[in-house]
Amino acid sequence: MSNMKIAVLASGSGSNLQALIDSIKDGALPAEIALVISNNPEAFALERAKREGIESRVVQVSDFDSRENYDEELIKIIKEYNVELVILAGYMLICSKPFVEEFYGKLINLHPSMLPEFPGADAIGDALRSGAKVTGVTVHFVDEGCDSGPIIFQEEVVIKEDDTEEKLAERIHAVEHKILPKAVKYYAQGRLHLEDRTVSVG
Ligand code: GRF
Repeated sequence: MSNMKIAVLASGSGSNLQALIDSIKDGALPAEIALVISNNPEAFALERAKREGIESRVVQVSDFDSRENYDEELIKIIKEYNVELVILAGYMLICSKPFVEEFYGKLINLHPSMLPEFPGADAIGDALRSGAKVTGVTVHFVDEGCDSGPIIFQEEVVIKEDDTEEKLAERIHAVEHKILPKAVKYYAQGRLHLEDRTVSVG
């Protein structure tokens, strides 16, 4: 059986892209990254893709007159690659409704908190400032809301009294680098069943 083809969208460092690359190389993840797309030409994720000989594309919002047109171009590009799963790994834009509708059920996102706690762009800082004792990581299917889709896996990370944002982020990223490849593996194995808003794991 051929490996499941995936596309990864990333805006920044791409350490989670790297975790996927490493899991594939280790033989732990039966997948092939067919394409990396970034909205940010400076994203280090693009460099990681290049090093591995993975195809990458930069598509910038500023080159389009609306978010819908930008997302339409993304849909067109992704469809050319016949991928079975689209992964938002540190992709810092909210997907438009047509984009979500196109890929619903095969579009997943990684978020650095125990959703529905601390949605949004600064989840780690928000958790720290809130005085919460626990935060974590969520992998979820994407719906039309912001960080609101059906949850696949979550794992807690304890917030320590002397934590800084940097120290907490480091522990959160370490969990992300395990939980994202795990979710992708389960998806590839057909073990994630999405019904209404609930994911059951087989
Ligand atoms: C991760 O913390 C992810 O949860 C969030 O953005 C960050 C991306 O990190 N959505 P990286 O670019 O994969 O290193």
